[in-house]
Amino acid sequence: MHSVYVFDAYGTLFDVHAAVRRHAAEVGPDADALSAVWRTKQLEYSWVRSLAGRYRDFWSLTEDALDTALKTVPSAPSSMRETLLDAYRELDAYPEVIDVLTQLREAGAQTAILSNGSQAMLELAVKAARIGGLLDDILSVDTLGAYKPLPAVYELVTNRFRVYPEAVSFQSSNRWDIAGATAFGFRTVWINRGGAPDEYRDMAPAVTLSSLTGLAGV
Ligand code: LAC
Repeated sequence: MHSVYVFDAYGTLFDVHAAVRRHAAEVGPDADALSAVWRTKQLEYSWVRSLAGRYRDFWSLTEDALDTALKTVPSAPSSMRETLLDAYRELDAYPEVIDVLTQLREAGAQTAILSNGSQAMLELAVKAARIGGLLDDILSVDTLGAYKPLPAVYELVTNRFRVYPEAVSFQSSNRWDIAGATAFGFRTVWINRGGAPDEYRDMAPAVTLSSLTGLAGV
């Protein structure tokens, strides 16, 4: 057991594709493509803005990315914009999340989110998923004005919990986030939900799981 378990939010606790999936019939035959472009552009904007020193919060990037996705996938009606953004505010949590957080806390660990999300969007998502009572803190990059995988972002965790990096188990479904967290010194667990090929071999996860289930035992 580690003393602190920290979770990425989007893709790890919350299903980023749930927003489009909930409205798949109205979005049309290219719903999956729309969701994929939305996510890819949201991440690209975070990295470019971090590197360019032009931070804007993750909700603005989520809006910008959807606008791009709607233009890239013309079969998806742009009139769906507000509906999809509303759905993104209240994404589904993955089914195992509540059990895993409960197990970790019963074993005496502290738990937190560390996310690119703005504080407001994270708090809404946590509330919608009813997991607020299972988390010690919700850490947003917004306080820093830069995005993962900048080392200073992971340092928010060690500063908050007053621990060395090796006391932290960090979970993310995003392989690039695992690379950054490994480089920082966390014990990392890659939640490879989709069976993606490994990347960043010199910044490898300590453990790979196909979901968060079993986390307390590794
Ligand atoms: C997050 C994104 C990267 O929650 O998934 O930080």
